Order: sequence, then C-alpha cells, then structure tokens
Amino acid sequence: MNILGISAHYHDSAAALIVDGVPVCAVQEERLSRRKSDASFPLSAIEWCLDHAGIQPDALDAVVFYERPMLKFDRILTCALRAFPQSWRAFPKAMKNSLGEKVWVRGIISSHLGVPGRKVLFTEHHQSHAAAAFLTAPTRHAAILTSDGVGEWATLTVGHGERRPNGATVITLLREIRFPHSLGMLYSTFTAYLGFKVNEDEYKVMGLAGYGRPTMVDKVRQVIRRTPDGAFALDLDYFEFHTTARRSYSSRFVELFGPARNPYEPIDLESAEGQRFADCAASVQRVLEDTLVDIARALQQETGLRDLCLGGGVALNGVANARVLAESGFDRVFVPPAPGDAGCALGAALYADRIHFGNTDRDVPDHPFWGPSVDGAELKRIAGEDGQFVDELDERTLIDRTADDLAAGRIVAWMEGALEFGPRALGHRSILAAPNSAGMRDRLNREIKYREQFRPFAPVVLIEAADRYFEFPAGGTRLARFMSGVFPVRPAWRERLQAVTHIDGTARVQALERDMAPRLYTLLEAYEKRSGMPVLLNTSLNLAGEPIVNRAVEGYSTFLRSGIDVLVADQTRVMKRGSLLMKRKEDVA
Ligand SMILES: [Fe+2]
Repeated sequence: MNILGISAHYHDSAAALIVDGVPVCAVQEERLSRRKSDASFPLSAIEWCLDHAGIQPDALDAVVFYERPMLKFDRILTCALRAFPQSWRAFPKAMKNSLGEKVWVRGIISSHLGVPGRKVLFTEHHQSHAAAAFLTAPTRHAAILTSDGVGEWATLTVGHGERRPNGATVITLLREIRFPHSLGMLYSTFTAYLGFKVNEDEYKVMGLAGYGRPTMVDKVRQVIRRTPDGAFALDLDYFEFHTTARRSYSSRFVELFGPARNPYEPIDLESAEGQRFADCAASVQRVLEDTLVDIARALQQETGLRDLCLGGGVALNGVANARVLAESGFDRVFVPPAPGDAGCALGAALYADRIHFGNTDRDVPDHPFWGPSVDGAELKRIAGEDGQFVDELDERTLIDRTADDLAAGRIVAWMEGALEFGPRALGHRSILAAPNSAGMRDRLNREIKYREQFRPFAPVVLIEAADRYFEFPAGGTRLARFMSGVFPVRPAWRERLQAVTHIDGTARVQALERDMAPRLYTLLEAYEKRSGMPVLLNTSLNLAGEPIVNRAVEGYSTFLRSGIDVLVADQTRVMKRGSLLMKRKEDVA
C-alpha cells in the first residue's frame, strides 16, 4: 500500500511517502525550492518522493493531509466573530494568511496529483504530531505529549499509544488544551516581543535565555495562569494574536515587561536593556519548562508508563526536553528528528496506514535520513570546471585527510548520503570544525553563519565517550540521538570545548551511534587519534537565511560564498586555494 503524507500552507511544507507501512522518503519543500520555511503546496517534494520511489500518482492508495481544513476554518471564523469589532480589519488578512487555499485542499490535491477525491484523507493536526512522535520511536507502549502553536483548535494534547502484539496500533489522545491557550503561542509572542521572527526564531529566545536570569517569572505567570486541573490558561488581556494579525502582544503586555526590542538593533548584553531582554527570555523559558514538566509528570502518574514521546514544535526546545526527562518520572523520552509541522507529513501518512487502514504494525527505521542523496560526481564536475583543487579519494584517505583538516583548524563542509528530514543537520549536511577554541566559534559566526553571538554551536560526540564530556541524566543519550536535549558540559572539559559550550555551561549535543551515520562515526574516531577527543562542532550546512543545502551544487555555492575551507561530498573533496598552505593564525594560537 502506497500512502503519501502532505503538510502545507502554514510554514515548512513537506511530503513523505510510505510503502507497505515503512517510510521510503520524506523531504521539506524548502530544501528543493530553496525558499526558507517554504509554506506553499509542496509540489516539488511530492514529485521527488514519487520519482524516488518509482511510483505514479495513480498507484497511490491514499494522499493524507496533516490537518482538517474545515476545523481550522471553524476556529478562525469563531475567533474573528468573538473578537468583533476589533477583528474586522484583521479578518480578511487572517483568512488569506492562515487559511488561504486550505479549505479547498481536497480539490487542490486531487487536481495537482490527478487522484480521485475519495483517496484524499485528513488527519487531525495533533494526531499527525502524535503519530510522528510515537510511530517513529523504538517503543511499543508510550505516553504521548504534543504541544505547538495551534493546529485546528488543539494546542496541546496528552495521551498514549500502543503497538500491540497482534499488529494493531492504538493512539488515544485523552485530553487537549485549545486555542488561544497555547504554550507555542506564548513562546512565539515573546519571540516577537524580543524582536525575532515568529515561527522561525524561537530557538534564538532559548539561546538568549542562557545569558539571562529568570527574574521575571512572576510576571510571566501573570500572563499564563495554571488552572486547578493541571492545565494552563493565557490571560488574554496581554495578547492580541487571537484578534489581529498585526501584533501578538497587547499594550498591557508592554506595560508589564517594558518596551519591546527593536528588531533592527543588535542586542548589547553589556547594557541594562540587553540584560532585560535576556532575563525576559530566561523567564519565559523557565515557565515553559515548569509547565511542561508538570504536565508530563501528571501524565506519567496517570498512565504509569515508562516511555514518553514528545511531538509538536515545542519539542524542539532542547532545554525543556532535558528537564522533562530528568524530572517527570519517565525513564525514556523520544523526540523525532522532525517534531514540527514538516514531520506531520510523515505522521499523517503513518496514522492513516496504522489507524485508518488498520495495517499491521511495522518498525520504522530509527534515523532522520529520508531526503535526496548527494552526488559526489556533480561536485567533481562543477568544481573542476571552476578550476578548483578537486580530489576523488578512497574512503580511508578521505577520512584521514578530513581528520587532518579538522585537526589543523580548517572548517569542513561534510555532505554524504540522504538529506536529513527536520530542522537539524545530523551528519549528512553538516559544517564540521574543531570544538576547542572560542576563536573557532567566532570565526564561524563571522565568516559563515553571520549570526548573533548568543547563539551557541552544537557538538557531535561518539556515544561511547559521551558521558566523559557531558552530564547526561539516565536516558539522556537517547534524547541526544537527534540533538533534542541540552545538557551540561562537564566543567573539566569546558575550557577544551569552548566553541560548543553555551554561556551557561551547556551544549545541545548529538550522541552518535555508529549505525546512524557510519562515515561520520569513523571520522570522529580518526579525529580523536589526532586531537584526543572524539568531539566535533557540528552545525547545519547553510548560510544565514537559507535552507540547509540539499544538492552538491548548493554545497559548492555555500562553500564559495563563505569561509569554509574544505568541501566533501561523498568521495569528492574540494579545497579552497590558500587553505592548502596557510594555517590560519587564530587556529595556531
Ligand atoms: Fe503543529
């Protein structure tokens, strides 16, 4: 049975294909269209998936959309009517922005793909998140907690899932919290207030939080109250996202927290104003964590289960995830590589397969590499035509050369195999560098990422050595499989891991098992022989404002436009002129 899953029209569209119950491929539209967070109908992603699997549209048994457009329409209409007359200006915009083509999704899918309307199915948004989290995790029985900005009405759900011995799958969502009460919207409101882009820059708030102290927790608790049943409610006097598309926070919010940050001015952490923003970020971060921990703890007590699967965009918050693991009573916490809306394409397809069609349960491979494969020959051709130094090396030589490069302080763009599905580069489209010096961090920020100083870089470490450098609670390395948790760097190593240690002594670490990315694993072993540490800085291969690269030609373009010294795609290695002979001064120091 061939099932195509689609998420689209909000942010980060994607398509995923499963064949006989097992994912075959999945990719975000932005990686193909090259428009960051592309929300358009993912035609390129769909075409690539079908092409990759060699399937014609008429061979699809179902096309599953990741939410129910009419329920969403109901929510937007209801909120607009409730807020009338303040909303009358915003309503047409909200209709266009938030809804757009959504109501007509069945017709759009049907006409684009040429499949009959009866084959187009819909799952609920949080069912898709739940399925993406539970059905891709190596567990048979787990509690499920999903949390995001909003889908149709739900913004947070709790429940459980079971893959039964007879092959049947059950996902039960017990309760939900409904819009406008939303942890995702709370965090996004602070994201906007702090001058960052909503739905894109939430991780900057988390990074900034590391520089602050949670001095405004009481104020944040004024805008989000806990309710006696263990849930929460926003005090809507402080928000406007539910009535207008213009601004997400109200004048009362500004009275409480002070003037919002001007997005065009850099944050000066030495100034009182800069510190206020950092404290504000730390405070909302703390309240988010506390709330999630409480909800997860209650869910553990209610279900008695040992495993928890986290889904929805809020599960990208690695600091909160680590606290949920440490404090909620669950032994293991699973976060998929794509917990946000892009991952819903895969979740919707899996949900339809297991629940709607009742197909027999199958294990889903435990990795994020579902996208197009990189072609080393393509790099060889284009870089050769450009007159670059191009080598095609056997595996051993390539690993040794690259380890030498890294040990010499060169920055390496590392492309291999299939592209990651989800927002993080986990070793197939990565920029790698020595993790030891603050100089390296600053150079990456200056010459490649062009980004704010408060955003830390992440390390990748061999799983067998992970405990030596980082303090994991029990089960922590599982959370670190897809870089989903933030953990303390052991104090003794912070000096030698300066480029990947955040200001508060933590790191968003990836603990690598050999089976997941064998070549990167071997490279880390080779690097350890040279440096004594099987740890590298690992950041996504893209420039600021661009999606993670997909093809070799995009990797090459990124290489040319930045301070990357070496580009590797499969067996092909390209080195910049000048990097050959000169060792950079700061790397020698
Ligand atoms: Fe979502």
